Amino acid sequence: MQKAWFYEEYGPKEVLKLGDFLIPTPLHNQLLVQVQAAALNPIDFKRRQRPIFPSDFPTVPGCDMAGIVVGKGGAVTKFDIGDEVYGNIQDFNAEGKLKQLGTLSEFIVVEESLVATKPNNISFEEAASLPLAVQTAVEGFKTAGFKEGKTVFVVGGAGGVGTLVVQLAKNMYGASHVVATCSTPKVEFVKSLGADEVVDYTKTRYEDIEEKYDFLYDTIGDCKNSFVVAKDEALIVDITWPPSHPRAVYSSLTVSGDDLEKLRPYLESGKLKALIDPTGPYTFGDVIEAFRYLETGRAKGKVVIFPFPSHHLPSCVPSESKNKITSEMFSQKLSALSPALNAVE
Ligand SMILES: NC(=O)c1ccc[n+]([C@@H]2O[C@H](COP(=O)([O-])OP(=O)(O)OC[C@H]3O[C@@H](n4cnc5c(N)ncnc54)[C@H](OP(=O)(O)O)[C@@H]3O)[C@@H](O)[C@H]2O)c1
Repeated sequence: MQKAWFYEEYGPKEVLKLGDFLIPTPLHNQLLVQVQAAALNPIDFKRRQRPIFPSDFPTVPGCDMAGIVVGKGGAVTKFDIGDEVYGNIQDFNAEGKLKQLGTLSEFIVVEESLVATKPNNISFEEAASLPLAVQTAVEGFKTAGFKEGKTVFVVGGAGGVGTLVVQLAKNMYGASHVVATCSTPKVEFVKSLGADEVVDYTKTRYEDIEEKYDFLYDTIGDCKNSFVVAKDEALIVDITWPPSHPRAVYSSLTVSGDDLEKLRPYLESGKLKALIDPTGPYTFGDVIEAFRYLETGRAKGKVVIFPFPSHHLPSCVPSESKNKITSEMFSQKLSALSPALNAVE
């Protein structure tokens, strides 16, 4: 058995409970991953509050994780036992229901196409903070058909997605000038991400900004007000649904391990940094508090869950067995460890 956070009815964070779940078996192209760190996203609490994306109860929330491969299905080709991987395990674009077992559990199964190898220079906490937010951030630039040398105005530069949009604009997409908005206490933080200018929205109204921009990337769904800073021919991207202005185009993430792999050079060179909210990381036991904080809408970067109960346990799989282990052998190892897993929590 393993520990996981779950809910059996829609509602506020109080519907979350901690319980025992079976450790899943990886089938075909799936990996079994021992989660080392996870990150929360607004979709995790929106799904809990009302039936947006169908999934069965009990639902274990969580899309993002970084962890260690401890088992694999017979059709897996890219990864081996012991590999350190990260990814968003929920493919929102796929037909059917989302996975019932999300990443707020000690062990998850995920299709190998959805994960990438964790760069060695970033921690599990940093890696877990990236997938869903960075996949969203990248997709916005693709939706806009963004071209190097253009100017960008980012609404909400301090949030989980916005911190990555600012960095990608400067360091990956070659924007000539990047402006981002946030509240007073976060101005220096957003400057440190590489923004050329930061607009404190508590002091300056969009109408008072004279310059007009080639691309308006709105991460908070305020296009009905922010559209005034966009040039007449500018593309306006809104990542909230429904888009908040007739000119705004909704952009949704593409969930792909290959897309994460393409970011490797930027992560390895430090041009793209994972930003973990300084109130965290929150321990596995503090998940409800982590949701309370995320739900205030004031997160600075990403809300991360670390460590997990099994973090300090020795690997379930001896290294000499690499490539030879079967999921049956792995289950036996886990049964032997079950009392320890329970004791840690
Ligand atoms: N379409 C998709 O595929 C997709 C994917 C991911 C997320 N989303 C959606 O995108 C939204 C943002 O996600 P997220 O993960 O970035 O959320 P988040 O991390 O919770 O965003 C929090 C940030 O929003 C900023 N903010 C709030 N009001 C603001 C305002 N009026 N002006 C400027 N900044 C403001 C806050 O900064 P201050 O404290 O300084 O105000 C805070 O730093 C959510 O609605 C989420 O559901 C959509």
